[in-house]
Amino acid sequence: MAKAIGVDIGGTGIKAGLVDLSHGTMASDRVRVPTPEGASPQDVLKAVQSVLKTLDIEDSSLPLGVAFPAIVKRGKTMSAANVSKEWLDFDAERFFRDGLNRNIVFVNDADAAGVAEARHGAARDVQGLTILTTLGTGIGSAFLYNGVLVPNSELGHLNFREFDSVEKWAATSARERENLTWAEWAERLQAFYTHVEFLFSPDLFVVGGGVSKNADDFLPLLELNTPIIPAIHRNNSGIIGAASLAAD
Ligand code: BGC
Repeated sequence: MAKAIGVDIGGTGIKAGLVDLSHGTMASDRVRVPTPEGASPQDVLKAVQSVLKTLDIEDSSLPLGVAFPAIVKRGKTMSAANVSKEWLDFDAERFFRDGLNRNIVFVNDADAAGVAEARHGAARDVQGLTILTTLGTGIGSAFLYNGVLVPNSELGHLNFREFDSVEKWAATSARERENLTWAEWAERLQAFYTHVEFLFSPDLFVVGGGVSKNADDFLPLLELNTPIIPAIHRNNSGIIGAASLAAD
């Protein structure tokens, strides 16, 4: 069985696991530690070292993919919305390669989730444009056209009403911070997805992030012309996609 390791660095947790690449499923338990306060590169590296130690995988030749909540261009992180500003224009891929002493591939977290769902999940064999969004600390997005990723879309940073980034108003973190009911939150999601639907005319929306396990509480409240369905791999999509991309 072809395997690879995926690490998904999020705003609140860092998760890792071994992935079965032929089925696109988890081949180990998921290991999780909280994201260190401030999320500086040094502290995040230490946390990643510790999840990998807990995973206890001897074979250091396995591909390793790391997913991160920022624009990632040629291994460099080019934005830093919910992490330390030290990540701006930072050679993250090299930093992790040196710090972990092994080859790694560094990618955007939502792109990783999108690849997992296109190859092995809710967007498998979908023709046309799939837009996956992750609703978590921020809002991440992945564009897949006929299964091919167009990297680094950043729909969470659309300007919206008085907000410079719509994620400040519509992400899961906003629902939690403001104690919104599912119906109140769904109104915000309705505004967000209607706008995105008009801009891009997608064929399918897939919703990932931790909240996808509660999909029944809010997806049925949305009225869109585009089908909108939860990610099959839920919160493991980032791990699975990062591992898949590392093995490419
Ligand atoms: C970041 C994205 C990321 C998303 C979800 C946003 O704030 O800009 O790169 O995909 O959060 O983590």
